[in-house]
Amino acid sequence: MPHWHPRRTQIEQRMLSNEFSINPLFVRKGEEAVPRFRMRDQSMLPETAYQIIHDEIALDGNARLNLATFVTTWMEPAAERLYAQSVDKNMIDKDEYPQTAAIEERCVRILADLWNSPDPHNTIGVSTTGSSEACMLGGLALKRRWQNERKKHGKPIDRPNIVFSSAVQVVWEKFANYWEVEPRYVNISQDHPHLDPEGVLSAVDENTIGVVPIFGETYTGIYEPVAAIAKALDEHQAKTGLDIPIHIDAASGGFIAPFLQPDLVWDFRLPRVKSINVSGHKYGLVYPGLGWIIWREVEDLPEELIFRVSYLGGNMPTFALNFSRPGAQVLLQYYNFLRLGKDGYYEVQKTSQAVAQFLSKEILDMGAFELLTDGSDIPVFAWKLKEGHTSNWNLYDLSRQLRIFGWQVPAYPLPPDMEEVTIMRIVVRNGFSMDLAQLFMLNLKQAVSYLDSLDGPIPHDTKYDNGFHH
Ligand SMILES: Cc1ncc(COP(=O)(O)O)c(C=O)c1O
Repeated sequence: MPHWHPRRTQIEQRMLSNEFSINPLFVRKGEEAVPRFRMRDQSMLPETAYQIIHDEIALDGNARLNLATFVTTWMEPAAERLYAQSVDKNMIDKDEYPQTAAIEERCVRILADLWNSPDPHNTIGVSTTGSSEACMLGGLALKRRWQNERKKHGKPIDRPNIVFSSAVQVVWEKFANYWEVEPRYVNISQDHPHLDPEGVLSAVDENTIGVVPIFGETYTGIYEPVAAIAKALDEHQAKTGLDIPIHIDAASGGFIAPFLQPDLVWDFRLPRVKSINVSGHKYGLVYPGLGWIIWREVEDLPEELIFRVSYLGGNMPTFALNFSRPGAQVLLQYYNFLRLGKDGYYEVQKTSQAVAQFLSKEILDMGAFELLTDGSDIPVFAWKLKEGHTSNWNLYDLSRQLRIFGWQVPAYPLPPDMEEVTIMRIVVRNGFSMDLAQLFMLNLKQAVSYLDSLDGPIPHDTKYDNGFHH
């Protein structure tokens, strides 16, 4: 695990004074000092409160220069207008906002169709706060389905396990921990850089609730080979009778493959794929936080997990961890579906991919690095320092150097078994244009040239390296 002290932020906060002062242009009598860690007794003017927070968040990074995040940092003005008009909608109030509820339902059908569901009208799905919530729901459905099957045959249900690669996003570690399912990690290695049929077959047994391929790995952007894994599980079933379902974590790939790799078979075209999640706020191009999960057929979501909320005098099935949550993002998703259509999504994702491929090639041509991926799956690529290039600096130093120009590019170790390899990753999103990419290359070359000019090694403290979390 990366080095992290749970109370570090708290300790750093305590080094600050208990009170701070307000800009004299805003201050009113009695407001000279504002307590930092307790609520003040008196109120203040809206402009004053605004100014205080506005000034403090100026220290945050510039979201557009954040090449670490997968999450949307720019939407066009018409979308922002719609957002501002709908921030007051609570997604759970289906009776009060029936059209928002209807639009959510419509988005589910659109996604089911995009992911080649044999019968989009017989699927069931929900919007969530992000892929994390969607993954929790997907995992829970797998667990309950497995339990129901085992009970039917009088078999024990106390030792469920779930299989994924060690390169899964932290949400799956959380799922296993919170819902008491044994995580069976198939460790990635030089020879097996992602989950593959061999690894899956070595890990599954009668207690496996499901296998979770990652469709667009967080570390490198690679697609895990879903069709080959499904085929291996088909053969395994023919031999053993075990019917092990697949949930696809398509947090990023779910909005890329339908447009850029439409012939790649990874979705509901494979009968073993029972559910798929995606982040609306990643390549769905919506501001945070929005996710989706769709089950192949209504029967794939155990009935007892469904709650019903009031809707137009009747009731509507829901499955969610939250009760209240914003509805505006769902409207923004539908806005994108209408506004962009398939052609528009293709253009946006193709442009991001072209930028990713341009950058990965430029970075390769610099001679100091080796690529792990080049952006041809999702528009994300990763690289490492070429063996023997230097012992004076590492990728954490390069990351800090780029920060001087404003760019936020994370460096981090690969998962267990490959943790000695440090990589850097760039996520190309809509809005990171070719122009910005060329300017980034200029800064990257300047940073590397500076680091290469050092005549001795930069001292390192692991407290400051390995700081990035997935
Ligand atoms: C593969 C994968 N799964 C799940 C998540 C969690 O998604 P969210 O941030 O939408 O909760 C991520 C986020 O990067 C991811 O890459």
